[in-house]
Amino acid sequence: MGSDRHIVLGIESSCDETAVALVASDRTILAQRIASQEKEHAPYGGVVPEIAARAHAERLAPMLEAVMGDAGMELADVDAIAATAGPGLIGGVMVGLVSAKALAMAADKPLMAINHLEGHALSPRLADANLEFPYMLLLVSGGHCQILSVEGVGEYRRLATTIDDALGEAFDKTAKILGLGYPGGPAVEKLAREGDPEAVPLPRPMKGSAEPHFSFAGLKSAVLRAVESGEYTRADIAASFQQAAVDCLIDRLEKALRETGQMPALVVAGGVAANMTIRAALEELAEQHTMRFVAPPLALCTDNAAMIAWAGCERLPLDQSDPLDFKALPRWPLDPEAEAVRGAGVKA
Ligand code: KG4
Ligand code: ZN
Repeated sequence: MGSDRHIVLGIESSCDETAVALVASDRTILAQRIASQEKEHAPYGGVVPEIAARAHAERLAPMLEAVMGDAGMELADVDAIAATAGPGLIGGVMVGLVSAKALAMAADKPLMAINHLEGHALSPRLADANLEFPYMLLLVSGGHCQILSVEGVGEYRRLATTIDDALGEAFDKTAKILGLGYPGGPAVEKLAREGDPEAVPLPRPMKGSAEPHFSFAGLKSAVLRAVESGEYTRADIAASFQQAAVDCLIDRLEKALRETGQMPALVVAGGVAANMTIRAALEELAEQHTMRFVAPPLALCTDNAAMIAWAGCERLPLDQSDPLDFKALPRWPLDPEAEAVRGAGVKA
């Protein structure tokens, strides 16, 4: 290896994507493969943990072989093996972590047990070499809804999280209520384009609250009542739901910014970052606060292994490797100082 260029193999298996990537510290993604389990889970309207774990176990070894082949590399060429070690669905996490341990042991390479949320938090720096610390990160996915002040590698201050559902989960549940498929986010966004965002009076949970957190459970219940009332079109409900979600995000980010003071950049990550209405609102907010707005390419926003390998690349020079008996963690807050919030979901 060159004196400061290093290569990390990354594995992600915490939810319903099996993913493997080889990333170099100069921000080159040398190879990556990702297999979605959407088809397996679609009949159940959500991710079934047992099915997910089995699918990861079947796919991971051939994918590892394929990625090494794509890059024309062998394990000996790699400087460290990184895998998501939590938080997430524990069966799947264990499949990825145990595989990484076996590879690390066989090839005598350091193991890096990566917090999935750290993967998301640092991924914008893989896409954008100019993104310096600190930055404000809105992490919005099916499992997470957090605002983080990303202050350095391993230095994360959680400013807000959800006290019940994640935003992607609220999109998915709304889709279910409206009779759209899974995953629901893209379907809700599409239908919302035909609707009036002001048509249905829906709540903005936590808006203006002295607490910094999010809540989306009440919004989902209000969507259900709106459907049952028979007074509104599905498109109007979808559009009004999306607008309510945007208003909540902006209100909570404004509060976080009052807390931190000026930040150089606002960054969004997670699957919900695909939503164009949300992106536009965030971009406008960033402009009002004279912050740069950074939205990494979607393939880096949704769950992937390049972000896990990249977190390994960021940590390797800091000598942060982990022991081979590192335990998979179903819950693993990124900011250990952050207060537990009532009812926070398993993945928060
Ligand atoms: O990051 P991700 O792929 O996986 C998790 O870690 O959860 O995020 C998936 C979530 C799902 O809840 C999906 O409905 C939501 O992201 N999503 C969207 C959109 N595309 C995906 N939500 C709103 N609008 C979208 N266009
Ligand atoms: Zn994720």
